[in-house]
Amino acid sequence: MRRRVRVKSPANLAFIKYWGRRDDELILPLNTSISMNLSSCYTVTQLEVREDLEEDEIWVKFYGEEKKKLAGKQLERVFRQIERLRQKYGFEFKVKMESENNFPADAGIASSASGFSALTVAMMELMGVRLSERELSIETRLSGSGSACRSIPDGIVKWERGEGEDGGDSFAYSLYSVDYWELWDLVVVVSREKKKVGSAEGHRLAKNEYMEARLKRIEERVREVERALEEKDLERLGRVIENDALSLHAVAMLSEPPLFYLNHKTWRVIDWLQNQRERGLGGYFTMDAGPNVHIVCERRDKDELVAGLKEVEGVEEVIINKVTEGSRVVEVE
Ligand code: DP6
Repeated sequence: MRRRVRVKSPANLAFIKYWGRRDDELILPLNTSISMNLSSCYTVTQLEVREDLEEDEIWVKFYGEEKKKLAGKQLERVFRQIERLRQKYGFEFKVKMESENNFPADAGIASSASGFSALTVAMMELMGVRLSERELSIETRLSGSGSACRSIPDGIVKWERGEGEDGGDSFAYSLYSVDYWELWDLVVVVSREKKKVGSAEGHRLAKNEYMEARLKRIEERVREVERALEEKDLERLGRVIENDALSLHAVAMLSEPPLFYLNHKTWRVIDWLQNQRERGLGGYFTMDAGPNVHIVCERRDKDELVAGLKEVEGVEEVIINKVTEGSRVVEVE
């Protein structure tokens, strides 16, 4: 047992999105997904075992907000993961958690991915239980935030759908290390408002005929992303990620009830980007469950894209990310 640990964990951006589950309990996805870890969007979580505590204390400091005690559904999710791991590995301690996010939470930048991967790694370290990266990604997946398992390995990461019933083959691993290809993700923040319908609900509602159409082509898209990565072909990668994001949002918008994550500011950024492409700049969009746009590009066009984006009406901020390593323990006592 350790007394105190601190873990830093990145958010990640999916090139091929995880949308829809084949098992809600075990958090098993309907499809394989691929992502990159984001260097400038991360969570730092500290866990401390304290004898004076009668119950777990969960503190969070979200971007731009005061530090506060977590409550409601979010608290339940965090508490469930702590309790699940404590029981599974046979411990009974009470813990104080302090977690800090350096980017807007719940607005389509995968905040729970960085949070739940950090929490899981911190719990394992605190208990002194050594797991392989594969097992660690599975424990993280079981937190309920499936995409969080992709924040464990370094660089560009693949989360296998897996075929088994027990989820033992649905894990994340690194396809490429951090320095393989200098890709950037410009997070174009057009809203800091928290989304009204969480991804969990989105996964549950993804059951229409558009979802069938999405799944029919998904393996082909996964292979296409892998080929684009292998060839370091941005245009090829860009075409697939845009198509995959639009397919997710088509499914979401045609769910019952419909889920609208995108807004007019999203479309304004996309429209602007398409004009830049006609001018010869290489940048490709994708959106998660929120209105903010991620633009994937290479170094040669990054600065020009960032400068231009700041002039687009409705853009509040651009967060510049390169590919980075996965979760890391940064302090242990
Ligand atoms: C659209 O269930 O992992 O970001 O609610 O943040 O835990 P949280 O999300 P999760 O679903 C992620 C959905 C997505 C696509 C993706 O990241 O693959």
